Amino acid sequence: MAVDIAGRIAAIKKEKNALLFAHTYTRPEVQDSADLVGDSFELARRAAEEKASIIVLAGVRFMGETAAILAPDKKVLLPVYEAGCPLADMIAPSDILRLRKEHPSAAVVCYVNSSVEVKAISDVCVTSSSAVRIVRNLPEEEIIFVPDRNLGSWVSEQIPEKRFVFHRGFCPVHQQVTPEQVRAAKERFPDAVVLMHPECTPETRREADYILSTGGMAALVKEKKHRCYLVVTEQGIIHTLRRHDPGAEFFELTAPTLYCQNMKKITLESIAQALSEEEPTVAVPDQIAAKARRALERMLELNR
Ligand code: 13P
Ligand code: SF4
Repeated sequence: MAVDIAGRIAAIKKEKNALLFAHTYTRPEVQDSADLVGDSFELARRAAEEKASIIVLAGVRFMGETAAILAPDKKVLLPVYEAGCPLADMIAPSDILRLRKEHPSAAVVCYVNSSVEVKAISDVCVTSSSAVRIVRNLPEEEIIFVPDRNLGSWVSEQIPEKRFVFHRGFCPVHQQVTPEQVRAAKERFPDAVVLMHPECTPETRREADYILSTGGMAALVKEKKHRCYLVVTEQGIIHTLRRHDPGAEFFELTAPTLYCQNMKKITLESIAQALSEEEPTVAVPDQIAAKARRALERMLELNR
């Protein structure tokens, strides 16, 4: 069955000059059908660069919106429109306006896990792989970092010379992990190197050997420096990592399991349907898209 749908997806992609981009948290069979599996920075950058007529974004809504804003000449399809990111919903434009009033000389740095409206009134967007470099490259000494307080605190630890103001957002998937749970897993897998996403809390991050974006984890595993990993981020990435180093061992937390329900809503069936109907498309009104594009293009520029 899965093979039939994968074959259908490949045929429609070819016929319509379409590409399938998938985030590393999506289902294994979705990743296996994709032309690109990447982190949110890579998906955004390649959407802007590729020559295809259609991009199907297997990811959550902010990823589809980012691709549509950066590639206005292409049709961007989001197979499951209601697959959102709860972190992105934790901040409203009114929060940014208030923070700007309280800190008038600060730059507003907005994680891409945010709405188009929030991006439109931010100075620059960042992803977890690009945040440290971009914040370092900004001329401002004071930074309003939104919406993820955990990623924000991690960035601030790398750049102690700047002052930071945080919003209170968090990713429910990563926030729930405690240091005790990671310590218990380390006892079970004493040879494993601990890879952890910066969306985990500062206390939990102390248990990590490497704090990396999903793209950073993939790059490290490709180097084949280590043979055994404990992966503390959404479990879909284990499939990506195994493809990069089939000989290595990968363990995940089992209590709790790190599972993003929204990423898992995207199935091969929904991708095949989106491709054949060319729906749902991501439509961002021009005026707001133009403003959000400034912050996203600045992200691409400042990460160089
Ligand atoms: P990356 O930027 O590492 O792809 O992370 C996106 C995300 O949603 C993490 O929860
Ligand atoms: Fe959003 Fe967290 Fe899911 Fe990433 S893992 S998409 S931040 S809810």
